[in-house]
Amino acid sequence: MPDSAQTILLLYSSRFGHSRRIAETVAAELAAAGVAAEVAELTDATVVDPTRHRGLGLVISVRYGHFARAAFRLVKAHKAWLDTVPTLLVTVSLTARKPEKRSPTTHLYTRKFLKKTGWTPGNVAVVAGALQYPLYNFFDKTCIRFIMLLMGGETDGKSVVEYTDWEQVREAGRVFARAC
Ligand SMILES: Cc1cc2nc3c(=O)[nH]c(=O)nc-3n(C[C@H](O)[C@H](O)[C@H](O)COP(=O)(O)O)c2cc1C
Repeated sequence: MPDSAQTILLLYSSRFGHSRRIAETVAAELAAAGVAAEVAELTDATVVDPTRHRGLGLVISVRYGHFARAAFRLVKAHKAWLDTVPTLLVTVSLTARKPEKRSPTTHLYTRKFLKKTGWTPGNVAVVAGALQYPLYNFFDKTCIRFIMLLMGGETDGKSVVEYTDWEQVREAGRVFARAC
């Protein structure tokens, strides 16, 4: 029986805050369903104590084709525990702005992460992120504008475009809440 003091841990790895907002939206759905959750940033220094939590949600954004190293470390370190508790993986990226890419089988980065870690989360959501050009430094802005040019996306370096389907995020939270 889970200890009633245990919470669901929602960890986000975020560079410009968008994945944090997604994690907070999932947490709000958990709270609405009466499921206590803790939201925290995932960093290289993050230490998870499985005795304090009865489930885990991981929200990670793609950066230059990769998820944060800390996400791989976390899953590797706690794989045995993760296989026994309710889990949710939310991946955040610009490639997922195309609806046909929003599944773990069609979204390359998500597929590679699951293959590499060997983890099968109870729930997976592939979510579209945001373009926030004004927040990027010169290098990142130049690279992202070039990628967007190739991909037929927004190239105006002053624009902010949110591709996230927030109802998809809320639904992922509601589905996860039912599993918790
Ligand atoms: C420097 C940089 C690199 C990125 N690289 C990729 C990428 O390789 N593939 C992709 O689909 N999205 C990429 N993105 C898009 C981010 O995943 C998206 O903007 C997301 O919303 C960022 O969330 P965050 O603020 O939580 O980090 C990149 C964004 C930035 C700023």
